[in-house]
Amino acid sequence: MDELIEGARAAREHAYAPYSGFKVGAALRTRSGKVFYGVNVENVSYGLSICAERSAAVAAVLADELEWDSIAVVADTKLPTTPCGACRQFLAEFNPKLSVTIANLDKVHYTISLAELLPHAFNTETIDS
Ligand code: THU
Repeated sequence: MDELIEGARAAREHAYAPYSGFKVGAALRTRSGKVFYGVNVENVSYGLSICAERSAAVAAVLADELEWDSIAVVADTKLPTTPCGACRQFLAEFNPKLSVTIANLDKVHYTISLAELLPHAFNTETIDS
């Protein structure tokens, strides 16, 4: 897990966050053991900004890696930052029980299941019923 946190921390350096100044990095490990990285990318039209978690997710999909094991998210906060609501829903598409580790730059971290972060998620069972 330390390796995944370290990867997210290194990715974070490449975040593009000139408007909020809040850089975030993410590292998403798939079941095959591959790791995909993401950063937040902001836009002058603020609402278009994408979070680190979703950009890592897009990188994994581009590589046809749809089975996900875990994600680490790193930001420079005292308490580790949990993924926003939009990212929780986006990640749940591929693994509603994804293991989510959130860490700060001091490596203070904890791990929680996405199922706990997003209980009663909107999912395919809901739309098929
Ligand atoms: N952000 C992320 O990338 N991930 C999170 O989990 C929380 C928020 C980004 C979005 C925006 O670029 C900046 O952090 C401030 O909200």
